[in-house]
Amino acid sequence: MRDFLIAPSILSADFARLGEEVENVLEAGADVVHFDVMDNHFVPNLTIGPMVCKALRDYGISAPIDVHLMVQPVDRMIDDFAKAGASIITFHPEASTHIDRSLQQIKDAGCQAGLVFNPATPLHYLDYVLDKVDVILLMSVNPGFGGQSFIPATLDKLRQARQIITASGRDIRLEIDGGVKVDNIAEIAAAGADMFVAGSAIFNQPDYAKVIRDMREQLAS
Ligand code: DX5
Ligand code: ZN
Repeated sequence: MRDFLIAPSILSADFARLGEEVENVLEAGADVVHFDVMDNHFVPNLTIGPMVCKALRDYGISAPIDVHLMVQPVDRMIDDFAKAGASIITFHPEASTHIDRSLQQIKDAGCQAGLVFNPATPLHYLDYVLDKVDVILLMSVNPGFGGQSFIPATLDKLRQARQIITASGRDIRLEIDGGVKVDNIAEIAAAGADMFVAGSAIFNQPDYAKVIRDMREQLAS
């Protein structure tokens, strides 16, 4: 069986009890913490920054933290998040003037690097930087908010991204973000994803372990 990672998006967690929420969702079987950073500029919402990432590390969270930067400019956030304990840092190519340099900066800071593609953003941004990419993150909603519906055209894009990864022969994660639920996760995996961000599908349910178990059951089918 392929190695699938479940990454709950803490955007839908109860921010007043964030440490406890992250602890609970990891105990419930999650693999990675997906950390959405929004700046009210690149996307129309405002969330959390490096201080909150560091606070989670200080609280004792040791799981990988996957920082999804929806900010512009990108570069000055990179070192701050690396120092705050980020494991993976991804950014949107439209938000960086020098994409190659931003990727290199993430790697130099000791983190895994990734590019994020909005629903209408073409994959050709990968053409000359694939050797610096550890994660390709496809947005299956327009970024900014949790609880939106999965955009079906993303399935084709996942297949294209999977082909690019296979042809490269490199070990690159294919992450999907937006509208992932128990009902559609099997289809999304069949299209090529191997890392699944889910916010509302997990945090809006009382029993996180049950949702994650149901997702893994779908992935095994
Ligand atoms: C949207 C964020 C997502 C969001 C996903 O801009 O990048 O990570 O939290 O939420 P759901 O799973 O509810 O679509
Ligand atoms: Zn995200």
